[in-house]
Formats: sequence, C-alpha cells, structure tokens
Amino acid sequence: MATSNSSTNKGIDNKSLTQGVGVVISDDVEIGDNVVLGNYVVIHPGVTIESGAMIQDFVVLGRQPKTGKKSTFPVKNIDARTVISRDSQIGTGSIIYRGAKIGRDCFIADQVIIRESTIVGEETGIGPQTNIKDGARIGKQVKIQDHCHITEKMIIEDGSFIGPGVITMSDKYMGRDKSINMQNSPTIRAGASIGGQATLLPGVTIGQLAIVGAGSVVTKDVPAKKVAVGVPAKVIKDVSDKQLNDSSCQIH
Ligand SMILES: CC(C)(COP(=O)(O)OP(=O)(O)OC[C@H]1O[C@@H](n2cnc3c(N)ncnc32)[C@H](O)[C@@H]1OP(=O)(O)O)[C@@H](O)C(=O)NCCC(=O)NCCS
Repeated sequence: MATSNSSTNKGIDNKSLTQGVGVVISDDVEIGDNVVLGNYVVIHPGVTIESGAMIQDFVVLGRQPKTGKKSTFPVKNIDARTVISRDSQIGTGSIIYRGAKIGRDCFIADQVIIRESTIVGEETGIGPQTNIKDGARIGKQVKIQDHCHITEKMIIEDGSFIGPGVITMSDKYMGRDKSINMQNSPTIRAGASIGGQATLLPGVTIGQLAIVGAGSVVTKDVPAKKVAVGVPAKVIKDVSDKQLNDSSCQIH
C-alpha cells in the first residue's frame, strides 16, 4: 500500500494505480494495488483505499462534516480514517465522509452520500441518490435501492432489503420537544424487506424477515416474520414459508 505525503497526486508512488485527470490526493492517503481513480476524484486526508477498489469520476472521499452556524446538530472534526475496502466500487459523484468504512465488494451507485462514521458491511449495494446519515450501521449483503433517506445511527442488519424512496425518521417532534431524545432511529432486523416509499417513524423496529408493504407508514414495531401494510401499518398475515425459504437471509 502506497502512502501519499504531498498535497497533489504526485505524492503517491504506486505503479498499479490508474487515474484520470484532475485527481487530488491529499497527505495521509493510503492506496492499495490495482486501484482505479476516475477523473476529478478528490481524496481528503485520512483515507485508505484498499486493493482493487474502483472510484468513479467526481467522487469525494474523506470529507469532514460541516453544518451551518445555527444547526441543531453541531458537528466536530472526525479523526477516524475513511476506508474503502478491497474490490468495492464508488459511483460517480458520490461523497463518502470522514470515518466512514465501506466493506469489501460493496457497490455504491452514483451520487450516494454516506456521512461520517457510518459502517457498511461487505457485499452491500446502495442505490443512486440515497443519503445515509452519520453513524449508521449497515450489515453485510444489504440491498438499499435509490432515493432512500437512512437516518443517523440507524441499524440495518444483514440481508435486509430496502425498496426505492424509503424514508426513515429519528425525531418524532421535529425539534419542538427538547426533553425527548431526538436521535431515536428505527432498527431493521436481519432479512427484513421494506417496500418502496415506506416511511418508518422514530424508534420502530422491523423484526427479522418481516415485510413492510409499499407506501406504508410504520408507527409501531412489526414483529418478526409478519407482513404489515397500510397507513398506519397493520399486521395482515405471516410471511409465507416459501418466502422465508427463498429469502436471501436464512434466519429462522
Ligand atoms: C406487502 C406485499 C408484499 C403483500 O403482497 P401479498 O402477500 O401478495 O399480499 P396481497 O397482494 O394479497 O395483499 C393482501 C392485502 O393487503 C393489501 N395490500 C397489499 N400491499 C399493500 C400495501 N403496500 N399497502 C396497503 N395495502 C396493501 C391488499 O390490497 C390486500 O387487501 P385485501 O385483502 O383487502 O384485498 C406487497 O403488496 C408489497 O407492498 N410489496 C412491496 C413491493 C416493493 O415495494 N418492491 C420494491 C422493489 S421493486
């Protein structure tokens, strides 16, 4: 693994590195063998890119979080490294913040935002224009489709499926009641499936291998292996044995 020590791409001495034009590699960047960097990739300090990773055009890696002066959630600089593990792909225009760790063989599509200190497990895919907030914990072999909002510190366990446009919430009273913990994110247990455009309210847990129907608004926990649909979501039946057996996540 080659380590940079200058403020331009001249600092990396790695003959197996392929890179386009306009690439910026800051100090304290480590790059493994056979890495591909597209055009205009910007790599801030404290980034490790493991071997075989492919970083597409206009990607920003290792960005420090910033907020406005009056933001409800002031942020501080993160010291932990940003890691893109081996053989992962980061799509065009994506931004991976400081301290985020992307597991091996992940596919991160175009214009995805992954905020600081988030962890993404191996072989997970994240669709275009999805926004994963800070400190989320996403398991391995998870599929998150496009245009999702995954709220801060959310836990999404292995093998879950999140359909397009799923929105998850963490602050029930939208900042109006300071006595209530404002970070009360939902949890999605292993192998659960969330239909497109479903909304998960703060603090709900979707049980193992449960299914939430498209467009549902989930206000209460959904037990394991149950199907819940509607606004507000109600359990209508058990997940069928066939669907349990066909699930990509065999947890019984
Ligand atoms: C929840 C779901 C899996 C249920 O499918 P199913 O087991 O075949 O159930 P059915 O279609 O027989 O529906 C059972 C009942 O629930 C209702 N229902 C089904 N899905 C619903 C939904 N998303 N919202 C509200 N009601 C729903 C049906 O109208 C039916 O009601 P009825 O008994 O009064 O006629 C499916 O409807 C769904 O929403 N899938 C999500 C698809 C998706 O988002 N994919 C993303 C990737 S493309």
